[in-house]
Amino acid sequence: MNHKNYPVSKKYPIGRGKLGLRIGDITLVPADAIVNAANSALRGGGGVDGAIHRAGGPSIMAELVEIRKRMASCPPGHAVSTRAGNLPAQWVFHAVGPVYRGGGHGEDALLRRCYRRCVELADELGARTITLPAISTGLYSYPLNAAAEIAVRAVADSLRWGNSEVVAATFVLFDHGAYEAFERAADRVVPEIV
Ligand code: APR
Repeated sequence: MNHKNYPVSKKYPIGRGKLGLRIGDITLVPADAIVNAANSALRGGGGVDGAIHRAGGPSIMAELVEIRKRMASCPPGHAVSTRAGNLPAQWVFHAVGPVYRGGGHGEDALLRRCYRRCVELADELGARTITLPAISTGLYSYPLNAAAEIAVRAVADSLRWGNSEVVAATFVLFDHGAYEAFERAADRVVPEIV
């Protein structure tokens, strides 16, 4: 990643909090809760999921094994929380995004629900700062610009209208392309909401 001459972070005040954007590895950014892009089986994987389990250590998977005994699977649009092991956080929210199958299978509503659920979980657990990846835009193939618009709108709406106590919701984007897509979306969406 070449960060030279590039604004690597931006903050947008919304409601009582701020929506932030930055480039980086989400496992290195301290927050009360880190959102993971998980799968319904909650069994770990590659991408951000792999990075979170590697950095957080085995206690996260051990907790997911217990959760799997209570719920057979975590459907798209839902999320479960675990402690964060060695990550610089207290919780990980394992959110399951939709697999993109052309856009006609309710993918947008599921992706929106995923992000809203994460802000709800933050409020349930008292997490005031959360970091989020671009859910579904890797292995699950969600087109980046559309995903960015949904992600930003969902989180901004939750901060503005959801009575949330979250003071900072920060998207941590892995590369310039994702950062730019989220910046374009936030520049367009946030002024409509605040
Ligand atoms: N920090 C921040 N973002 C990251 C990181 C990281 N360390 N690693 C990857 N990303 C980005 C990717 O560049 C992509 O934009 O996260 C976004 C989501 O990509 P994936 O991790 O592939 O997640 P997703 O598309 O939701 O697919 C989920 O992938 O690994 C499996 O178990 C996971 O089956 C699930 C599926």
